[in-house]
Amino acid sequence: MHSESPIGVYDSGVGGLSVVRAIRDLLPHEPLLYVADSAHVPYGEKTQAFVEQRACAIADYFVSQRARAMVVACNTATAAAIALLRQRHPALIIIGVEPAIKPAAHLTHTGVVGVFATTGTLASPKFAALVQREAPEVRIVLRPCPQWVRLVEQGVLSGPEAAEAVRGPVAELREAGADVLVLGCTHFPFLRDVIQDAAGPGVPLLETGAPVARWLRHQLHERGLLATQGPGALQLQTTGDADALAQLASRLLGTPMPAGTVPDAWRGLRPV
Ligand code: DGL
Repeated sequence: MHSESPIGVYDSGVGGLSVVRAIRDLLPHEPLLYVADSAHVPYGEKTQAFVEQRACAIADYFVSQRARAMVVACNTATAAAIALLRQRHPALIIIGVEPAIKPAAHLTHTGVVGVFATTGTLASPKFAALVQREAPEVRIVLRPCPQWVRLVEQGVLSGPEAAEAVRGPVAELREAGADVLVLGCTHFPFLRDVIQDAAGPGVPLLETGAPVARWLRHQLHERGLLATQGPGALQLQTTGDADALAQLASRLLGTPMPAGTVPDAWRGLRPV
C-alpha cells in the first residue's frame, strides 16, 4: 500500500463533499475516491441494520480498491456502523464524523446548544454517549431535519424554498435558548447561508470537516502514509445516477466534476 492508492470518502449522498472540501484544503496531494450511496439516500430514517449493511458494502469496496484509509463522512453511518467497520477491517484506518458537541459546549454562554442532525444520529447510543462525555453540564436541544437532506440532494441551497425549510427548526432551537448551533449532518454545511440568515449573524454554526481532515492527516502521518506530492485527484462514484452526481457535485464544489458508478457487486445490501 502506498501513497498513490486513494483515501476512500463515503456518505449516503453528496453531504460528504463538505468534508471533501476540508480534506482537499489541508491535504491537496491526497488522491480521493468519493462514493455517494445515492441509490440508498437518505440514511437518516433507515434502520441501523440497513445502514450497517450499506457501510460494510462500501468499506469492502474501498478495500478492493486498496484504499489507505476510509473516511465515513456521514454522521448517521458513523453512529450506526463505525464499530462494525473497524471489526471487519482492522488493518484499515477508519475515521468517522460526530456532531461538534465538545466545541459547542465551550462556546455557549446560555448553557444551551442546539443540534441539527438526522433522526438516526440523534437517536443513537453513540450520540447519547458523546453528549454525556463532552457536555454533561449543557442543555442540548435536538431537531431532526430530514427535509434539509432532501433539499441538498435536489440542489436547493438558497432561495425561498430553502429559507422556508430552515426558518421553523432554527427558530425552535433559538427560542429554546440555544446560542450555538451544531450542524450534525454533513449535508447541512451546504445550507450554511440560509441557516445563518435564520439564526442571526452572531450565532456560531459548527461543522466537522476541518477537524476530520486534521485527524486524517495525523493518522496517515503516524503510519508514514501521507502523500506529499502528486496532483491529488478527486474521483467521484455513485451507486445511483452518475450524471446526476456529476451535475450536483460540480455545483457544490464549484468546479466541473465528472462522475462514474460503483461496480454492481457493491451496490446492493451486503451481509454483515
Ligand atoms: N450526510 C449524512 C449525515 O451526516 C446523512 C444524511 C442522510 O442520508 O439522511 O448524517
